[in-house]
Amino acid sequence: MSDAVSDIALGLEKLKARFGQLLEESSDELSLRNARAEFMGKKGELTALLRGMGNVPAQSRREVGEQVNRAREDLEAAFQARLDALLSAAKRADLEAPPFDLSLPARPIRRGHRHPVMLVRDEVLSIFRSLGFEIAWGPEVEFETNNFKKLAFPEDHPATDMQDTFWVNVKGAPPDVRMLMRTHTSPVQVREMSTHKPPLALVSGGAVYRRDDDVTHSPMFHQVEGFYVARDVSFAELKGVLTQFIHRLYGEGVPVRFRPSYFPFVEPGAEADVGCVFCSPEDGTRASCRVCKSTGWLEVLGCGMIHPEVLRHCRLDPEIYSGFAFGLGIERIAMLRYGIPDIRVLFENDPRFLSQF
Ligand code: FA5
Repeated sequence: MSDAVSDIALGLEKLKARFGQLLEESSDELSLRNARAEFMGKKGELTALLRGMGNVPAQSRREVGEQVNRAREDLEAAFQARLDALLSAAKRADLEAPPFDLSLPARPIRRGHRHPVMLVRDEVLSIFRSLGFEIAWGPEVEFETNNFKKLAFPEDHPATDMQDTFWVNVKGAPPDVRMLMRTHTSPVQVREMSTHKPPLALVSGGAVYRRDDDVTHSPMFHQVEGFYVARDVSFAELKGVLTQFIHRLYGEGVPVRFRPSYFPFVEPGAEADVGCVFCSPEDGTRASCRVCKSTGWLEVLGCGMIHPEVLRHCRLDPEIYSGFAFGLGIERIAMLRYGIPDIRVLFENDPRFLSQF
């Protein structure tokens, strides 16, 4: 036998032995496939060995070729056997492992819910809807004129102060067109009365902004505004509608009083108070009530007959039309309803607080 033939035969034997050992050491499919590539791939050891075929004499080539093919089949068979053994071991381990329990209850999906401020807003709006009011909408970024001037605020009214109000720079706007984050929902009155003919009975809820920040005042809070404009609307109707509203919100029979107050856009103006729901003079809790400060009354809303100047600004003739308007703070009602002492917790979004509603 020529040297070249015996070199190849010996090389094949060694290669099979080393391949066998490597297969034994491979404990997963990936390392097994890497071993196969290392020995049988295009750049693998078998290919390198076959480079010696050039030195095999012509009469021995066929025999050597057959040897090589057998060796290739042996290597492939060894690889396949080891792969089958690994896969069936994995399957066995899977079957013998503790079974997956399909009957286990799924983890509950925690559903979100509405924020307490939105719950109260919707309750307030739905009471007014049941009294015949329709819902209106107004933007949070408002024209200065709608927020102040058309509501008859005097030029130098403190509410227009740079300190109290968040002004908005509008690119390219003429210098006399100033905009701000609305400081109350009353501009909705202006928008609606300027574009619709009475009779109008509307309510509108939404966010408003002021430079305020303490335990009962937030820089962003929510109001509900309502107004009724028609012919011959009287203060008696204002009292009737708002008393009915307060009774539906706080319970039939709670005492309600109207106290004179000033807002530039109403005349006469009033604030409505409700008898304190947290204390009573009979059981001695009034003397120490911190919520009503022992007065027995809680302020609920501002209201009044719409000022003739406001009607004129909206191109309505005050000789023909009259109306009443009211506005209330939603957080104030939510705080009283749920006994929340600090307004800020309503906006911190702490799930421990919010999950209680
Ligand atoms: C007004 O905003 C008037 N536009 C209400 C009105 C409408 C009067 C129509 C007459 C006719 P006032 O500034 O009082 O009024 O605010 C109304 C309510 O908003 C207050 O009673 C209070 O409950 C709430 N409020 C005011 N400032 C804050 C604040 N910074 N944080 C939370 N609530 C506030």
